[in-house]
Amino acid sequence: MRRTAAACGDLASLRAAVARCHACPLAATRTQTVFSDGPDRARILFVGEAPGENEDRSGVPFVGEAGALLTDIIEKGMGLRRSEVAIANVLKCRPPENRDPSAEETRTCTPWLDRQIELLGPEVIVPLGKHASNHLLGVSGPELRSMGSLRERVHERGGRKVVPTYHPAYLLRTPDAKKDCWKDIQLAMGLLGLQPRRKG
Ligand code: URA
Repeated sequence: MRRTAAACGDLASLRAAVARCHACPLAATRTQTVFSDGPDRARILFVGEAPGENEDRSGVPFVGEAGALLTDIIEKGMGLRRSEVAIANVLKCRPPENRDPSAEETRTCTPWLDRQIELLGPEVIVPLGKHASNHLLGVSGPELRSMGSLRERVHERGGRKVVPTYHPAYLLRTPDAKKDCWKDIQLAMGLLGLQPRRKG
């Protein structure tokens, strides 16, 4: 019998249940599921959209070019080790050709992320980009909001603070936006009582 997300009492059993998931067609095209990187409990959780090619191959979120930038934000900017923060995605499987996740794929995958958040227990969640930010704030369909209207603010989700910022892939294409991302990261750090390592 397949285990539901709610029945998983720890991250290891949740990771194993995700690895067996065939609830949507992405199971047929993935190399492997991509569950998370980081500790089993974390004060801060970064959430991206979905694994890309490198992540599908390695099984670890944010390991490509965008991942290297996220690592710099965490290590050079925040002064933390990447291994101290949790990193995950809304979707646990790669959409072919890195297309946008469908509404149905996102809906089907949601219980895994919801349970992952409960078990990780972050005080602050930083969704990366429009898809993850809208998803985590429960916005969908025609109501979808732009990053401009979501970022530079602290939102609330089930007692946790949510600080949306740009996706690192967007920052690679639009380096001018890095200073705005840094403002969001400083906002998140302030909520955790952390001092930034470098000036923005
Ligand atoms: N982009 C994402 O949203 N997630 C990853 O894991 C890699 C790239």
